[in-house]
Amino acid sequence: MNTIQWRSPSNIALVKYWGKMGRQEPRNASVSFTLSAAASDTQMSYSAGGKGEVAFLFEGVENAVFAERVRRYMASVADEMPFLREYDFRISSSNSFPHSAGIASSASGLSALALCLVDMGQQIGFSNFGAAEFRRRASHFSRLASGSACRSVYAGAAIWGKTAHAADASNFYAVPFGEELHAVFQDYCNDILFVSKAEKAVSSSVGHELMEGNPFAAARYAQAEDNLGRLLSALRVGEIAEAGAIIEEEALTLHALMMSSRPSFVLMQPESLRLIQIIRQWREATKLPLYFTLDAGPNLHLLYPKAIQRQVRDLLESELLTHCEGRQFLADAVGRGAEKLV
Ligand code: DP6
Repeated sequence: MNTIQWRSPSNIALVKYWGKMGRQEPRNASVSFTLSAAASDTQMSYSAGGKGEVAFLFEGVENAVFAERVRRYMASVADEMPFLREYDFRISSSNSFPHSAGIASSASGLSALALCLVDMGQQIGFSNFGAAEFRRRASHFSRLASGSACRSVYAGAAIWGKTAHAADASNFYAVPFGEELHAVFQDYCNDILFVSKAEKAVSSSVGHELMEGNPFAAARYAQAEDNLGRLLSALRVGEIAEAGAIIEEEALTLHALMMSSRPSFVLMQPESLRLIQIIRQWREATKLPLYFTLDAGPNLHLLYPKAIQRQVRDLLESELLTHCEGRQFLADAVGRGAEKLV
């Protein structure tokens, strides 16, 4: 029996992936910051002479539903990793953040799993990739589990999806962008405000599908490509206000798309809107660069440079946390990407 363990972080999309085609290919390219505190630790033991059986423990407790999902995922990638059919697996995964907190753990959890699988291939002599190719393969297999997961394996930031603005970008895996970030973004803060810990009203796979009938889809994909080009430039040169404006537009566009889908979904809560108002009023009054984004749910991510951390913390305590469920938030920041623990 051999054991591998990886820690992989969550990531927050700045230009959003919303709409997909074929086998997990995005309709538009996206870029994300890799996070740090929000992460999954996944330990995988494998024994030879098996048949691809999977036992899965989540937070120390056997979870048959996750086990079945992982078994199906492994079967779906076994043409590319045929050795998966010849071993049995015991996988144990836990998150650094409370499961009930409403943070999507699929990006961190599934990228950690993909890293373990590609690493196993190396250990048993199936493959012998160099460091960069190893990450790319892990990103590819993460994508097949969940699109956004493919951006979690790299330090700092990652681009996923073919675009005119990054020569090496691909629909099949993400590419690193961390080294191109201006210094101010290298340790950018990202606090997650938990507006609601309830289950998502609509799964992201249903959301992606709804884009197929959305009357604004073509304009959206063109907008995303344009926003990506402008955002990558702003991230390179450190233009915080330009980046912030694009990031907020992307978040609100994502929600506007869900509102204009058939059927339509409102994924924000009244508190989400209240927080947005407070953030914008505070930014206007103080001239300090605090911006927000949201994923496909009601929680807000605060994005700001480390230099104004104290002022943002004061705002959190005095005005923002009262709109969060149980005054809960998670202080996070741009991080160094997935790391091997064992
Ligand atoms: C709103 O990656 O969760 O977070 O590929 O179906 O697993 P699947 O979808 P998923 O979609 C994430 C959508 C998003 C935006 C983003 O992360 O880019």
